[in-house]
Amino acid sequence: MTRPLHPTALVTGGNRGIGLAICKALVARGCRVTLGARDEERGRRAAAEAGCAYARLDLADPDTCFDAVVQAGGFDILVNNAGVLNEVSLLSPKSDFAEAMEVMVQAPLDLIRLNLPHWRETGWGRIVNLSSGLGAHAEGLGGRALTGWPRRR
Ligand SMILES: NC(=O)c1ccc[n+]([C@@H]2O[C@H](COP(=O)([O-])OP(=O)(O)OC[C@H]3O[C@@H](n4cnc5c(N)ncnc54)[C@H](OP(=O)(O)O)[C@@H]3O)[C@@H](O)[C@H]2O)c1
Repeated sequence: MTRPLHPTALVTGGNRGIGLAICKALVARGCRVTLGARDEERGRRAAAEAGCAYARLDLADPDTCFDAVVQAGGFDILVNNAGVLNEVSLLSPKSDFAEAMEVMVQAPLDLIRLNLPHWRETGWGRIVNLSSGLGAHAEGLGGRALTGWPRRR
């Protein structure tokens, strides 16, 4: 049960932001990284920039999660990075709460389950779940999630 010399890694939402930075950092540490992104053109461009492989991964589409994990035979490291930022208050009927649950709760759990056979077989694995203070209730339910964001110009 030792860490593989060059672990494989899947990073969701890897085409920009923190996800792209994680891909680059894992590549620099000798990991064989697959950058998951829902838009193929942007995903492939980012993967070329980061020096890693690409897999089409739309977390609102469970089939793409299945295909990405099964085709690779599982990943040693799973980084659940992708997130959506609601601009509408959770209290509004127009809130995209369902999408947020799909992308940030259901899909990460699906990916963990899909990877389980690989981790059981190899005896080594890591799950990294990115979270946010905005999703924490420890300091009371408030902030932008409830008030919504100012309109972008
Ligand atoms: N930035 C911060 O200050 C901060 C603070 C605390 C926590 N975090 C957390 O860190 C993570 C990354 O943050 P970030 O600032 O880098 O976010 P970001 O720049 O908004 O990027 C979000 C990523 O998630 C992807 N994504 C959204 N919905 C998806 C879906 N259905 N399927 C696949 N990918 C999807 C986006 O893809 P598209 O490009 O296709 O939209 C994008 O690649 C998030 O989980 C966030 O909650 C960030």
